[in-house]
Amino acid sequence: MRKKLAIANWKMNKSRAETREFCQQLRQVAPDLTGVEVVICPPFTSLDVVAQELGDTEMRWGAQNCFWERQGAYTGEISPLMLRDLGCSYVILGHSERRQILGETDAVINRKLIAAIEAGLIPVLCVGESLQERENHRAREVVKEQLDQDLRNLVAPAGGLVIAYEPIWAIGTGVNASSDDAQEMISFIRERLAQYLGREFAAGTPILYGGSVNSNNIAEIMAEEDIDGALIGGASLQADSFAAIARLIANA
Ligand code: PGA
Repeated sequence: MRKKLAIANWKMNKSRAETREFCQQLRQVAPDLTGVEVVICPPFTSLDVVAQELGDTEMRWGAQNCFWERQGAYTGEISPLMLRDLGCSYVILGHSERRQILGETDAVINRKLIAAIEAGLIPVLCVGESLQERENHRAREVVKEQLDQDLRNLVAPAGGLVIAYEPIWAIGTGVNASSDDAQEMISFIRERLAQYLGREFAAGTPILYGGSVNSNNIAEIMAEEDIDGALIGGASLQADSFAAIARLIANA
């Protein structure tokens, strides 16, 4: 059976004090959260707070980005080894906000992915099409192209890999993809993954949906065969709404 995941992507939100408060609230419901791996991805500046507050629970944490080199003259960058040093298990890579706002290319994402795996992190690779690409019936082609390039030269990582299908038009808009559309794309992604990294690896890889997930729509999304959890932005900023989503993922 594949692992189920509820990953909080806080983006550029929360002070250290707010992070501590969130973690303390989440701890209170932690005994409830079995059957799902809960992962918090705060800004770099709060990773140590999450580590302190959740270090003795089953919950995990990760970063929202990293660089592709281990160390050196790269002003402003954070190495995957530094993330390991902070106890991170995961790193989100290729989020559409980084692709669109920071100009990250698939070639860059590919380098980061390989470096993260080498450092012992589990990458959460984000892929997804824009509204225009969907309307032009190019969604599959776009996602295939992203996967082709992002996973180039990758050997099936022993520590595993997570993929998140996040249609750009669904991120932060309040308009989620229909469960049918999400399932269709996610089963396509699993099929591609089988071609790159083998059927067994693909069958064991968690593939998540992301984009306007909340406690009202997650149950329907999770009813789909290939969807193993969610990457949650806005609704992950409050401990109670995030915990409610995680519980629904666990019970699906
Ligand atoms: P959202 O963000 O849940 O606020 O739509 C999801 C994401 O960007 O990962």
